Amino acid sequence: MTYFRQFRDESSGACAYLIGCTAGRCAVIIDPQPGQLDLYRGVVAELQLQLEWIVETHDHPRHSGAADELRQGTTARIARSYHAASAVAADRQLRHGDRLQVGDIELETIETPGHTGSCLTFRWEDRLFTGDCLLIGNCGNTDAADASAALLYDSITRRLFAFPDETLIYPAHCDGDRCVGCIGAERRSNPELHGIGRDEFIARRREAGRRQRTQPTQPPNAGAWHVE
Ligand SMILES: [Fe+2]
Repeated sequence: MTYFRQFRDESSGACAYLIGCTAGRCAVIIDPQPGQLDLYRGVVAELQLQLEWIVETHDHPRHSGAADELRQGTTARIARSYHAASAVAADRQLRHGDRLQVGDIELETIETPGHTGSCLTFRWEDRLFTGDCLLIGNCGNTDAADASAALLYDSITRRLFAFPDETLIYPAHCDGDRCVGCIGAERRSNPELHGIGRDEFIARRREAGRRQRTQPTQPPNAGAWHVE
């Protein structure tokens, strides 16, 4: 038996996930958010689990330090992409195809670069934790220095869209009340991707970046939700 929890930070729409194994009394947390660490600790304690692994889908300015802080006072280890700048501080550096075992839970590593050069998606059974690669009705931006619209398009269309329609998507950011999606719906109707070829996707991203650079800076708290 497993436990599964989605934690959403209402101030940012950012999502973290806990998967717990009752047999091994152990748990993994994906993409912990600063400001919610006591919540995670409380749930882990309430479920009588030991936090064994903390994994991150990518280096993220807003998450920075959360994994290290969450680990303090525990025996938990941190796993990140082999390609991430923060990989040197990780206990395990993950590459495409690597599997992380947490009790009976197995997370498969899928490299899905684009939003950043080191983005990972994790698969657990019929669920994909897509980070800021594929979102619900959207996909991650390509603003980071090591971002690539071409790689983002390829990661989504070649790797994630290769999964069956019913595969569930749990992203690192939720749009409104939609906190879970599925591959079939995204393949059929994601407005950023449906009917859009690779060259057009890249051109749109280039134009969006150009517009963003020429627009005045938004005031603080101008939007309740954003993708980083
Ligand atoms: Fe991000």
